[in-house]
Amino acid sequence: MKLWISVASFLFSLFTSAESTAVKRAVPQGFVTTRGAEFELDGSPFAFVGANSYWLPLLTTAQDVETTFQQMHAAGVKVLRTWGFNAINASELAGALESGLTYYQVWNNSDWTLNDGPQGLERLDNVLNTALKYDIRVILAFTNNWVGYGGMELYVDHIMPGASTHDVFYTDPRMIASYQRYVKTIVNRYKDSPAIFAWEMMNEARCLGDLPSSSACSAPLGTIPTWYKEQSDFIRSLDPFHLITTGGEGHFYWQNPAFASDYNFNGQAGEDFDFDLTLPNVDFATYHMYPQLWYPQLDFPGSNFTVEGWGLFWIDAHANAAKKAGKPLILEEFGVTGLTNKTTIYPSWVGRALDTKHGGQVQTYLLIFVSHFISTTG
Ligand SMILES: *[C@@H]1O[C@H](CO)[C@@H](O)[C@H](O)[C@H]1NC(C)=O
Ligand SMILES: *[C@@H]1O[C@H](CO)[C@@H](O)[C@H](O)[C@H]1NC(C)=O
Ligand SMILES: *[C@@H]1O[C@H](CO)[C@@H](O)[C@H](O)[C@H]1NC(C)=O
Ligand SMILES: *[C@@H]1O[C@H](CO)[C@@H](O)[C@H](O)[C@H]1NC(C)=O
Repeated sequence: MKLWISVASFLFSLFTSAESTAVKRAVPQGFVTTRGAEFELDGSPFAFVGANSYWLPLLTTAQDVETTFQQMHAAGVKVLRTWGFNAINASELAGALESGLTYYQVWNNSDWTLNDGPQGLERLDNVLNTALKYDIRVILAFTNNWVGYGGMELYVDHIMPGASTHDVFYTDPRMIASYQRYVKTIVNRYKDSPAIFAWEMMNEARCLGDLPSSSACSAPLGTIPTWYKEQSDFIRSLDPFHLITTGGEGHFYWQNPAFASDYNFNGQAGEDFDFDLTLPNVDFATYHMYPQLWYPQLDFPGSNFTVEGWGLFWIDAHANAAKKAGKPLILEEFGVTGLTNKTTIYPSWVGRALDTKHGGQVQTYLLIFVSHFISTTG
């Protein structure tokens, strides 16, 4: 049964912000768009707080999904970010069937088969239908840089067994074809649904994962920026209407000697936040923030940041870059360990995100996804 509103009427908004001459896409009713550095919904500014709940489709009962959305709705959440992937391998299948684990892809040898049944994509259908019922829109990621939940290294392990580097994923044509086959499956299934806020190419794309990076993959050499370009164009060819974003952590490629040895700024991670934002089919920017994992003091000679101070610096850097690009920005994951750290630091970070307006438009929008500290991230 189709629970979301079918697409009947179209809104034709004329222009993006004054400084841009691009004609805005006309989208079906209920779809989110951007206007300069702001989001819009049906022609009006769309401000929101969000939740980053990668685990939601893993809930095994519809009642748990319902209860979660009820609580998010009551808390004012309007946008949810979650995983649009959950992959296992053939030897894990028996256990998954026994435990009721959600899985959409089963890898066997060099290929995967789709599970669109009750323990598979029907669970994601239910998440999206329930989201819409509670007026919550969903950012859906297609895979994960990290091995968790069947990330991109399952593609690497199965298509190129014994590969010694992680970043072959971004360049090997078999890998790209396999990823695109999955993307196409998901996009075609939900492309008419206003429950989708945006498609996300990958959670936290980096040159390295559980496998190391090759020396050929870094922002100056363009592996991930090129992959972002190709995949965002591919997604746009399937779906002209929904927003598209990277899902990246927001690493920079600053050609500044003071940052030459800092992994977050020297391009070694693979992203080039400023350049990636200029891609025509990257509609808005994302970044993440885990200072305790990302800022070993010695990486940054001569500076003495506190966890809070480093976070404020990272927020400012992204706000400035997004303002320059004239696109909206979402801080979609952040965290520190310890309750006391959270209660002292989070208000300061959220305050700074508000103060910097995350794009510099007239109104202030809170574009923050609160997530728990995930120790496997980073
Ligand atoms: C399947 O996944 C399990 C758990 O990650 C792993 O131990 C096993 O080696 C994998 N099997 C194959 C054939 O890849
Ligand atoms: C995996 O592939 C092998 C060889 O083609 C086949 O015998 C086996 O049944 C497959 N396993 C699953 C779970 O599909
Ligand atoms: C770093 O911290 C030490 C100790 O508080 C201080 O003396 C020093 O001036 C600081 N250095 C910089 C570059 O801020
Ligand atoms: C709070 O943050 C500091 C600085 O990173 C860290 O040393 C400390 O362990 C954290 N507290 C807890 C309870 O995790």
